[in-house]
Amino acid sequence: MTDYSTTMRTDRCGDLRITDVGRTVTLCGWVDRRREHGEHLAFVDLRDRSGVVQLVVDGAHDLRSEFVLRATGTVRERPADTANEALATGEVEIEIEAVEVLSVAEPPPFPLDERTDIDEVLRLRHRYVDLRRPRLQHNLEVRAQVNSAVRRAMEEQGFIEVETPMLVASTPEGARDFVVPSRKEPGSFYALPQSPQIFKQLCMVGGLDRYYQIARCLRDEDLRSDRQFEFMQLDAEASFVSQEDVLGFISFAVSAAAEAVTGERPGDIDRISWEEAMERYGSDKPDVRFGMELIELTEVFANTEFRAFQTPCVKGIRVPGGSDISRSRLDDLTDRCKAWGAKGLVWMRVTPDELDSPVDKFLTDDERAGLRTAMNAEVGDLLLLVADERRTVRHILGLLRLELGRPPLTAGGLNFLWVVDFPLFEGLDDVGNPIPAHHPFTMPHEDDIVLLDDGDRLAIRSQAYDLVLNGWELGSGSVRIHERDVQEKIFSVLGIGSEEAQAKFGFLLDAFRYGTPPHAGFAFGMDRLTAILAGEENIREVIAYPKTQSGTDPLTSAPTSIDDRHLEELGLRLLPPTD
Ligand code: AMO
Ligand code: AMP
Repeated sequence: MTDYSTTMRTDRCGDLRITDVGRTVTLCGWVDRRREHGEHLAFVDLRDRSGVVQLVVDGAHDLRSEFVLRATGTVRERPADTANEALATGEVEIEIEAVEVLSVAEPPPFPLDERTDIDEVLRLRHRYVDLRRPRLQHNLEVRAQVNSAVRRAMEEQGFIEVETPMLVASTPEGARDFVVPSRKEPGSFYALPQSPQIFKQLCMVGGLDRYYQIARCLRDEDLRSDRQFEFMQLDAEASFVSQEDVLGFISFAVSAAAEAVTGERPGDIDRISWEEAMERYGSDKPDVRFGMELIELTEVFANTEFRAFQTPCVKGIRVPGGSDISRSRLDDLTDRCKAWGAKGLVWMRVTPDELDSPVDKFLTDDERAGLRTAMNAEVGDLLLLVADERRTVRHILGLLRLELGRPPLTAGGLNFLWVVDFPLFEGLDDVGNPIPAHHPFTMPHEDDIVLLDDGDRLAIRSQAYDLVLNGWELGSGSVRIHERDVQEKIFSVLGIGSEEAQAKFGFLLDAFRYGTPPHAGFAFGMDRLTAILAGEENIREVIAYPKTQSGTDPLTSAPTSIDDRHLEELGLRLLPPTD
C-alpha cells in the first residue's frame, strides 16, 4: 500500500473506510458539492484523485465549488439511513474541527458531473478543469497502467529501453513531416520523427539485440478519432528473430496491458492472411466481431446477360432480416457506394417466391437459384451486390459491411487479430512506381523476391504483419531487409534513384556495410490500445492534452505566429496569406 500521507495531510479522501472510525484525519482536496443543512451545518463532498468523502462542517464558512481546502476532523460512522452505497466512503463522514481555504475558485466553466455533454473546445480550453472529472481521471489511470504493463512486459522479455532523437532527418512512414527550421544553418530543416524506424534498425546494427521505446511520433496528417499529430507508439525491434518471434513478443505485451486493465488475460490471438481478410471482409483491418462476410458470386454470373455483372468480379453481402430497409435508405446506400468508387449497387429483397429487385428481370432462373444458394439467402434478407475489378468490389463491400453491421468500437470485449502476409506494394502511383504497403525497409517474402525483377510486382508478398483490435489497426511491423543490395534494389523498384537513395538513406545503406544482423520489429499505437481498454471511441479522451480535430490546442492557442526577429534569425520570410 502506498503511503499518501504528506506534511499537509494524513490521508486521501477516497481511502477512508468504516475501519477508520474514531481517527483524526487531515484531508486536502476540492469542494465537489455542498449542501446546506439548517443554518450553520453544511455537508461538503471533498474530492481528490482517490475519490470523495463527506465532510460535516459546523459554523459559517464560505466554501464554494472547486475551492481547495485543508480540513481536519474525526471520522465517524454515518447514521444508518444516510449511508451512501454508491460511494466507497459512503459509510463514513468526517466531523470537521478546522478548515482552511488553500485556494479560492471562480465557478468552473462547465459542470464537472458526467451527465452533462460539454463542447469539446470548451473542455480543451480548460483542460485542467476537465481533467478533474472522473472520466478523465479514470482514462489517465488506465493509460498509466497500460504504459507500465507494456514496459514491464518488454523488459521481462529482455528488451532494453533506448531513446532516439526528436530532431531528425525525414523518416518515410508515408505521412507529411513536421519540420523545424535550423537557426545555425538557415534554409535547413530538421524533421520531427514519424517513427524511430531507422534509428531502431541502426540499434540492431549497433548490437543492442532487443530494443524498445514508448516513443513519441509526429505526423502531419488529417486528424480523426484514431489519429493525432503526435501520438505514442510501443516501438520494438529485435535481432536474430523471425516474424514468429515478433508476433510472440507483441502478443505478450498487449495481453499484459489488457490484463492490467481488465484483470483478465486475453486468449491466443487468431491469425488471418491479408488475402483472406480482403476476400472475406474487404478490409486489411477486418472487424471480425460480426459476420456479414463478402460472398463470392463471380462463378454464379460467369455467363450472365446482365451487363453490369459482366466484370472480373461479383461479390455480395447478406443483411439478415434487412428486407425492411426503406427504399430511400437503399438509394442513400447506392449513392454512398458510388461516392466510394462503385459503378452501382444492386439490392435484392428476398421474398417467399422471388427476389424483389430492379434488376431481377435481367437474371436467369439458374442465376437466381445460384445466388440464393451461394448466399444462404432466407426470406426477409437483403442482398447487396457489387460488380467490378476485384480490388474495387472488396473495397466497396468492405465499407458497406461496416456501415450496416459494425458494433460500437468497445462493445463485446477485446478482439485481437493478426493479419499476416501483406503484399509488398499496395498499388502504383501516377507514374507507375509501386507504393510500399508498409515502408521501404520491409523484406519481401523469400519465394517472391524473384518477381522484383520482372514479374507482377503487385503480387509480391512481404514479411509484414499488422495487429488489429476490434477493427482498428493497432500496429504494424515487418521483417526488415538487412542486405544492402536488396535494399538498393527496393529503392530502385520504388523509383528512388541511387543518388536520391544515397542522399536520403545513405547512412542506413552505409551501416549495412558493417555487419548487420537479420532483424524484425513492430510498433503499436499506445493511444489506440488505451482508448479501447478505457472504453473510449476517440483517442483524444485518453490523451491529457490533445489537439482538436482541426489540429489546434485551445488551451495554449498553438499553433501561434512568431515575431519577425525570430523569423529573421531562422532565415525565414513569410509569404502573404492566400485565401
Ligand atoms: P505505422 O506507421 O503502421 O508503423 O504505425 C504504427 C502504429 O502507430 C499508430 N499510429 C497512430 N496513432 C495515433 N495517431 C496517428 N496519427 C497515428 N499514426 C500511426 C497506429 C499504427 O498502427 N515504423 C513502423 C513500425 C515498424 O515497422 O516497426 C510504423 O511506424 O496504431
Ligand atoms: P444500369 O444498367 O447502369 O442502369 O444499372 C442497373 C442497376 O445495376 C442499378 O441498380 C445500378 O446501381 C446497378 N449497377 C450498375 N453497375 C453496377 C456494378 N458494377 N455493380 C453493382 N451494381 C451495379
